[in-house]
Amino acid sequence: MKIAVVGTGYVGLVTAVCLAHTGHEVRCLDRDETKISLLRRGVPPIFEAGVRELMEENKNSLIYTADPGEAIPGAEVIFICVGTPERADGYANLAAIYESAEEIAEHADRDCVVVVKSTVPMGTNEKLEKLLSSRIRRGIRLEVASNPEFLSQGTAVRDMLSGQRLVLGVESETAEAVLRRVYREFDVPILVSDRKTAEMIKYASNNFLALKISYINEIANLCEAVGADVETVALGMGMDERIGNRFLRSGVGYGGSCFPKDTKALHWLARYHDFELKTVKAAIEVNENQKIRLIKKARRYYPCLEGLNAAVLGLSFKPGTDDLRDAPSLQHVAVLLDNGVHVRVWDPAAMEGFRRLFTGSVRYCSSIGEALKDTDICFILTEWEEVRAFPLVMFPRLMKRPVVLDGRNCFDPGAAREAGIVYDSIGRRP
Ligand code: UGA
Repeated sequence: MKIAVVGTGYVGLVTAVCLAHTGHEVRCLDRDETKISLLRRGVPPIFEAGVRELMEENKNSLIYTADPGEAIPGAEVIFICVGTPERADGYANLAAIYESAEEIAEHADRDCVVVVKSTVPMGTNEKLEKLLSSRIRRGIRLEVASNPEFLSQGTAVRDMLSGQRLVLGVESETAEAVLRRVYREFDVPILVSDRKTAEMIKYASNNFLALKISYINEIANLCEAVGADVETVALGMGMDERIGNRFLRSGVGYGGSCFPKDTKALHWLARYHDFELKTVKAAIEVNENQKIRLIKKARRYYPCLEGLNAAVLGLSFKPGTDDLRDAPSLQHVAVLLDNGVHVRVWDPAAMEGFRRLFTGSVRYCSSIGEALKDTDICFILTEWEEVRAFPLVMFPRLMKRPVVLDGRNCFDPGAAREAGIVYDSIGRRP
């Protein structure tokens, strides 16, 4: 099929390369010329495993362009994969969605299905269809369908090609049939619903996962108070299939471009309809506190933080990405700096981005060893493999005083103690 994908961020590009991989001809549209010129040279502008390889393998079925007049005409299916960032009031900013619609309306020249992959509030697809129908050339039949993505950064290609479900939110059999043809080669269970339900499935899923994380984080904090071990608690809970064993890793809270914005957007939407989503509100509050949990802990070891030398290992919101959006490290480092702490950071992927946000005041280190040298305290904020594999004996050798506060439970507390480390993690006995 001839498919256009609007937006080449991680959702758009992953969608495009996976669709090309399954036999479609895909034209990718992005207004950012720099991204387009990188893509034309075979370089993905995002940090995502497997994308470069699929771009190379399917280069004959992929076209990259900044010109809607090249991307849209002839397309039977047009995917909208643009960002819906958080507005100042917490709601989703839909400007990019409506700008894409303008381009589609101007250039579509045949009957087509416009598929919204971006996370959008309930009712957006309907509004979009009205807008498109009022602008599109006479005689062209156009339908809008909701097909939310469930891609995690770092595993997005795998999540797309062999995910756990495809949700098709459609209002007609024609749109359903077109989408079924798009995904003909995918071996993934399909759930068909109306559009608003599909939009809600996406929000409800992300909000539920955020709730699960905030819940285990609260349980972890309570475990510390009563002397229980959260890892074993999570294991025991997860053995019950009704609970499930995933997304029960306690830590310094969730970050990234999805959970923080989607929880706030759903909360906003509920308020707009005159009620409060109390559980979601609590999850947001718990997460905000959890992001600086280790700083509260640090005061147990140093009542006054001023003048300390601190190492921060890991800056991205999770391993396998350079993404810093809503990463716990942002708030954590800002609070350390406010308290007069000298901060050194290390991260294998996200330091360039961090440098743009924290200029001057932070020292950037090219190795874990360099970051730890002569420090009074170390904070672990992202569970990069390099951190997990770092020999415990090196902490006391390198640090002035080996106080290690581990926000991602990377090490065994017994082994850390034996290595001579003052080790404190999340939800486990120090
Ligand atoms: C998330 C969802 O997992 C995807 O299904 C969804 O499609 C995507 O948002 C989206 O809406 O686009 P992502 O933000 O890439 O994907 O990352 P996750 O792997 O879900 O992690 C989010 C955050 O939760 C990270 O900061 C991670 O460290 C944290 N987390 C995750 C925990 O603290 N504990 C856990 O057990 C799991």
